[in-house]
Amino acid sequence: VKKTGHVEFRNVSFAYPGAEAPVLSDISFTAEPGQTVAIIGSTGAGKTSLLALLPRLYDAASGEVLLDGVPVTKLDRSEITQRVAMVPQRPYLFSGSIEHNLRFGRPEATDEQLWDALTVAQAADFVREKKNGLGSRIAQGGTNVSGGQRQRLCIARALVTEPKVFLFDDSFSALDVATDARLRRALKAKTADATVIIVGQRVSTIADADQILVLDNGRIVDRGTHEELLETSSTYQEIVES
Ligand code: GTP
Ligand code: MG
Repeated sequence: VKKTGHVEFRNVSFAYPGAEAPVLSDISFTAEPGQTVAIIGSTGAGKTSLLALLPRLYDAASGEVLLDGVPVTKLDRSEITQRVAMVPQRPYLFSGSIEHNLRFGRPEATDEQLWDALTVAQAADFVREKKNGLGSRIAQGGTNVSGGQRQRLCIARALVTEPKVFLFDDSFSALDVATDARLRRALKAKTADATVIIVGQRVSTIADADQILVLDNGRIVDRGTHEELLETSSTYQEIVES
């Protein structure tokens, strides 16, 4: 199998351990290298739970999650982490230097690779402005940087690992619209061959996706491009108008 980062969910259902009600029901979609698939839906719809199944934070109860044609349950964790990087909804920085935080998934990365990732993530300027640059200290939990800076450093950390698949869970929510747009343009140019799955709240973040999945109560209720969904999906229209 060529390791290109092809993602497929096939009739996937999932319930949290100990809970009865399914959180995801019959989820099917594919995300191809070079594509951006966006997931939108109200709070509690199951967006984070859906992303969690690819890096196997949880396993599906039924159906299959496939990475490059192989069920993720049959892959070694290392094979998954080499190919998939997730930026979690509450991005976490640990106490230590910025450099330390950025190298977390790839200790051997060069300084040039770190700066390159910071540039794409629109974080190079504020790191450069710090007195100690890459050596600047981050407090436990990243409490001495802003929410938007924390998001951008965590995006840079994901970029450093050069994955085939990026999972962004609401990773652009703390950015202003202009920075969000700049970041995603740079990301697209940098990762033209990568598969990008992005959970977004703001329509501007997801409107240019190749495919948008509208999630409601654990089900994909509608799918299509922004233009198609504006025509066909009342759920999407409600989200756009809210
Ligand atoms: P927002 O991030 O708020 O937009 O929601 P989401 O769409 O990401 O929903 P998420 O996947 O986090 O949650 C879907 C459902 O699963 C909700 O009913 C949650 O209460 C429930 N849920 C989420 N995490 C857990 C968990 O760790 N354990 C259990 N038992 N339920 C969970
Ligand atoms: Mg979530």
